[in-house]
Amino acid sequence: MDISIRQATAEDLPEITSLFRNTITHINSKHYNEKQITVWASGADETDLWLERISEFYFIVAENETEIVGFAYLKKGYYLDGLFVHKDYQRQGVASSLLRTMESQVMVEEFPEIRSDVSKTALPFFENKYYDIIKKQKKSFKGLVFENYIVKKTL
Ligand SMILES: CC(C)(COP(=O)(O)OP(=O)(O)OC[C@H]1O[C@@H](n2cnc3c(N)ncnc32)[C@H](O)[C@@H]1OP(=O)(O)O)[C@@H](O)C(=O)NCCC(=O)NCCS
Repeated sequence: MDISIRQATAEDLPEITSLFRNTITHINSKHYNEKQITVWASGADETDLWLERISEFYFIVAENETEIVGFAYLKKGYYLDGLFVHKDYQRQGVASSLLRTMESQVMVEEFPEIRSDVSKTALPFFENKYYDIIKKQKKSFKGLVFENYIVKKTL
Protein backbone atom coordinates (compact mmCIF):
# COMPACT_ATOMS: atom_id res chain seq x y z
CA MET A 1 0.00 0.00 0.00
CA ASP A 2 1.28 3.46 -0.91
CA ILE A 3 0.97 5.85 1.99
CA SER A 4 2.06 9.40 2.55
CA ILE A 5 2.70 11.14 5.83
CA ARG A 6 1.85 14.75 6.60
CA GLN A 7 1.08 16.95 9.58
CA ALA A 8 -2.51 16.82 10.78
CA THR A 9 -4.87 19.79 10.57
CA ALA A 10 -8.13 20.58 12.37
CA GLU A 11 -10.01 19.34 9.29
CA ASP A 12 -8.76 15.82 9.99
CA LEU A 13 -10.52 15.76 13.36
CA PRO A 14 -13.55 13.61 12.38
CA GLU A 15 -11.39 10.96 10.68
CA ILE A 16 -8.87 10.90 13.53
CA THR A 17 -11.49 10.48 16.24
CA SER A 18 -13.44 7.80 14.38
CA LEU A 19 -10.23 5.88 13.66
CA PHE A 20 -9.35 6.14 17.38
CA ARG A 21 -12.78 4.85 18.46
CA ASN A 22 -12.87 2.00 15.91
CA THR A 23 -9.33 0.80 16.54
CA ILE A 24 -9.89 0.67 20.30
CA THR A 25 -13.22 -1.10 19.85
CA HIS A 26 -11.98 -3.68 17.33
CA ILE A 27 -8.27 -4.11 18.05
CA ASN A 28 -7.54 -3.16 21.68
CA SER A 29 -10.62 -5.11 22.76
CA LYS A 30 -8.50 -8.26 22.49
CA HIS A 31 -6.44 -7.13 25.51
CA TYR A 32 -8.74 -4.98 27.66
CA ASN A 33 -12.18 -5.66 29.12
CA GLU A 34 -15.47 -4.22 27.91
CA LYS A 35 -15.66 -1.48 30.55
CA GLN A 36 -12.10 -0.37 29.84
CA ILE A 37 -12.77 -0.32 26.08
CA THR A 38 -15.94 1.77 26.50
CA VAL A 39 -14.18 4.33 28.69
CA TRP A 40 -11.04 4.47 26.53
CA ALA A 41 -13.01 4.80 23.27
CA SER A 42 -15.14 7.59 24.74
CA GLY A 43 -12.01 9.73 24.61
CA ALA A 44 -12.96 10.19 20.93
CA ASP A 45 -15.69 12.61 22.08
CA GLU A 46 -13.24 15.05 23.66
CA THR A 47 -13.15 17.29 20.61
CA ASP A 48 -11.40 20.24 22.29
CA LEU A 49 -8.64 18.01 23.60
CA TRP A 50 -8.01 16.53 20.12
CA LEU A 51 -7.95 20.00 18.56
CA GLU A 52 -5.44 21.08 21.19
CA ARG A 53 -3.28 18.01 20.46
CA ILE A 54 -3.41 18.73 16.72
CA SER A 55 -2.40 22.36 17.15
CA GLU A 56 0.12 22.03 19.99
CA PHE A 57 1.91 18.74 19.43
CA TYR A 58 3.82 17.29 16.49
CA PHE A 59 0.80 15.41 15.14
CA ILE A 60 1.07 13.39 11.92
CA VAL A 61 -1.31 11.30 9.85
CA ALA A 62 -0.62 8.51 7.33
CA GLU A 63 -3.01 8.38 4.40
CA ASN A 64 -3.59 6.36 1.27
CA GLU A 65 -5.53 7.66 -1.76
CA THR A 66 -8.84 7.41 0.06
CA GLU A 67 -8.49 7.88 3.79
CA ILE A 68 -6.39 8.36 6.90
CA VAL A 69 -4.96 4.97 7.83
CA GLY A 70 -3.04 5.92 10.97
CA PHE A 71 -1.90 8.77 13.16
CA ALA A 72 0.64 9.56 15.88
CA TYR A 73 1.59 12.52 18.03
CA LEU A 74 4.60 13.60 20.06
CA LYS A 75 4.37 15.48 23.34
CA LYS A 76 7.25 17.57 24.74
CA GLY A 77 9.34 16.75 21.68
CA TYR A 78 10.27 13.21 22.73
CA TYR A 79 7.19 11.54 24.21
CA LEU A 80 5.09 9.49 21.80
CA ASP A 81 1.66 9.97 23.36
CA GLY A 82 -0.48 8.24 20.73
CA LEU A 83 -0.04 5.79 17.82
CA PHE A 84 -3.12 4.30 16.20
CA VAL A 85 -3.61 2.42 12.95
CA HIS A 86 -6.98 2.02 11.23
CA LYS A 87 -8.61 -1.32 12.12
CA ASP A 88 -8.75 -2.33 8.43
CA TYR A 89 -5.05 -1.57 7.76
CA GLN A 90 -3.31 -3.47 10.55
CA ARG A 91 0.01 -5.26 9.83
CA GLN A 92 0.70 -3.39 6.60
CA GLY A 93 3.60 -1.29 7.84
CA VAL A 94 1.60 1.86 8.66
CA ALA A 95 2.81 2.15 12.27
CA SER A 96 6.38 1.41 11.13
CA SER A 97 6.23 4.43 8.79
CA LEU A 98 4.70 6.67 11.45
CA LEU A 99 7.29 5.60 14.02
CA ARG A 100 10.21 6.23 11.63
CA THR A 101 8.94 9.77 11.09
CA MET A 102 8.56 10.31 14.83
CA GLU A 103 12.05 9.02 15.61
CA SER A 104 13.52 11.34 12.96
CA GLN A 105 11.62 14.27 14.44
CA VAL A 106 12.92 13.49 17.96
CA MET A 107 16.47 13.35 16.55
CA VAL A 108 16.00 16.64 14.68
CA GLU A 109 15.00 18.21 18.00
CA GLU A 110 18.16 16.71 19.52
CA PHE A 111 16.57 14.63 22.24
CA PRO A 112 18.68 11.55 23.03
CA GLU A 113 15.76 9.16 23.37
CA ILE A 114 12.10 8.60 22.56
CA ARG A 115 9.67 7.34 25.22
CA SER A 116 6.11 6.12 25.25
CA ASP A 117 3.38 4.54 27.37
CA VAL A 118 2.18 1.61 25.33
CA SER A 119 -0.81 -0.68 25.53
CA LYS A 120 -0.60 -4.45 25.90
CA THR A 121 -1.79 -4.56 22.27
CA ALA A 122 1.09 -2.43 21.02
CA LEU A 123 3.92 -3.99 23.05
CA PRO A 124 4.93 -6.63 20.42
CA PHE A 125 5.17 -3.85 17.82
CA PHE A 126 7.53 -1.80 20.03
CA GLU A 127 9.59 -4.86 20.91
CA ASN A 128 9.97 -5.48 17.18
CA LYS A 129 11.35 -1.92 16.92
CA TYR A 130 13.97 -2.56 19.65
CA TYR A 131 12.31 -0.52 22.39
CA ASP A 132 13.25 -1.45 25.99
CA ILE A 133 10.60 -1.87 28.64
CA ILE A 134 11.32 0.48 31.57
CA LYS A 135 8.39 -0.78 33.61
CA LYS A 136 4.98 -2.33 33.56
CA GLN A 137 2.49 0.01 35.24
CA LYS A 138 -1.11 0.40 36.25
CA LYS A 139 -2.53 3.70 35.04
CA SER A 140 -5.81 5.15 36.34
CA PHE A 141 -8.12 6.72 33.81
CA LYS A 142 -11.68 7.81 34.56
CA GLY A 143 -11.88 5.54 37.58
CA LEU A 144 -10.55 2.41 35.85
CA VAL A 145 -7.13 0.84 36.01
CA PHE A 146 -5.30 0.08 32.75
CA GLU A 147 -2.18 -2.03 32.59
CA ASN A 148 0.42 -0.73 30.18
CA TYR A 149 4.18 -0.38 29.71
CA ILE A 150 6.63 2.53 29.67
CA VAL A 151 9.13 1.94 26.87
CA LYS A 152 12.11 3.84 25.50
CA LYS A 153 14.68 3.71 22.75
CA THR A 154 18.00 5.53 22.61
CA LEU A 155 18.38 7.30 19.29
C1 LIG B 1 0.27 -1.46 17.58
C2 LIG B 1 -0.12 -0.89 16.21
C3 LIG B 1 0.05 0.62 16.23
C4 LIG B 1 0.81 -1.54 15.16
O1 LIG B 1 0.45 -1.03 13.88
P1 LIG B 1 0.69 -1.79 12.49
O2 LIG B 1 0.60 -0.80 11.40
O3 LIG B 1 -0.20 -2.97 12.42
O4 LIG B 1 2.21 -2.29 12.68
P2 LIG B 1 3.24 -2.68 11.51
O5 LIG B 1 2.48 -3.32 10.38
O6 LIG B 1 4.09 -1.52 11.16
O7 LIG B 1 4.10 -3.80 12.28
C5 LIG B 1 5.50 -3.94 12.16
C6 LIG B 1 5.95 -5.18 12.90
O8 LIG B 1 5.66 -5.07 14.32
C7 LIG B 1 5.28 -6.39 14.83
N1 LIG B 1 3.86 -6.36 15.22
C8 LIG B 1 2.92 -5.41 14.96
N2 LIG B 1 1.73 -5.75 15.51
C9 LIG B 1 1.92 -6.93 16.12
C10 LIG B 1 1.07 -7.79 16.86
N3 LIG B 1 -0.22 -7.50 17.10
N4 LIG B 1 1.57 -8.95 17.35
C11 LIG B 1 2.88 -9.29 17.13
N5 LIG B 1 3.74 -8.49 16.43
C12 LIG B 1 3.26 -7.33 15.94
C13 LIG B 1 5.46 -7.36 13.67
O9 LIG B 1 6.78 -7.85 13.73
C14 LIG B 1 5.26 -6.46 12.45
O10 LIG B 1 5.88 -6.95 11.28
P3 LIG B 1 5.15 -8.08 10.40
O11 LIG B 1 3.72 -7.66 10.21
O12 LIG B 1 5.95 -8.07 9.11
O13 LIG B 1 5.27 -9.35 11.17
C15 LIG B 1 -1.57 -1.26 15.84
O14 LIG B 1 -1.80 -2.64 16.05
C16 LIG B 1 -2.65 -0.52 16.60
O15 LIG B 1 -3.20 0.47 16.12
N6 LIG B 1 -2.99 -1.02 17.81
C17 LIG B 1 -4.07 -0.46 18.59
C18 LIG B 1 -3.74 0.91 19.11
C19 LIG B 1 -2.70 0.90 20.20
O16 LIG B 1 -2.75 0.10 21.12
N7 LIG B 1 -1.77 1.84 20.11
C20 LIG B 1 -0.83 2.10 21.12
C21 LIG B 1 -1.43 3.15 21.90
S1 LIG B 1 -0.91 3.31 23.46
